[in-house]
Amino acid sequence: MRIGIVNGPNLGRLGQRQPEVYGHLTLAALEEHLRSAFPEVTFLFFQSNHEGEIIDRLESWHNEGVRHLVINPGALTHQSYVLRDCLLGLEFRAIEVHLSNIYQRESFRAHSLVAPAVQGQISGLGEFGYHLAVRYLLEKA
Ligand code: DQA
Repeated sequence: MRIGIVNGPNLGRLGQRQPEVYGHLTLAALEEHLRSAFPEVTFLFFQSNHEGEIIDRLESWHNEGVRHLVINPGALTHQSYVLRDCLLGLEFRAIEVHLSNIYQRESFRAHSLVAPAVQGQISGLGEFGYHLAVRYLLEKA
């Protein structure tokens, strides 16, 4: 199975960015851990700080037949009708993941515009959330 893993704005700086919130793990290490935990999966990794680039990548993966997605949209979660419409319009089995618990933080983070367009959401479990999302896609989707 091919699974796209998308990380949105500012997640390229994991490990350096607010480590008290997001931990010390880098995005490269997170990706490597997924590769070694799930050798049977072909991962497509993409991180971008640009909303339109994420939309373009989701469309091209979809055109190539990719149908499984784990997405941490970063702050686009709370502001992007564009990403929500994109996910509503494409036939992905998608899981929304957040490293931090978005319900324990500032009130603006407690609302996800993306949640209605995905199958489920995992929030607050750090790196483990990505692993659980992949397991779900492998076993249930
Ligand atoms: C985040 C939570 C968002 O509110 C924030 O803007 C991020 C990261 C998380 O993984 O906890 O960039 O998606």
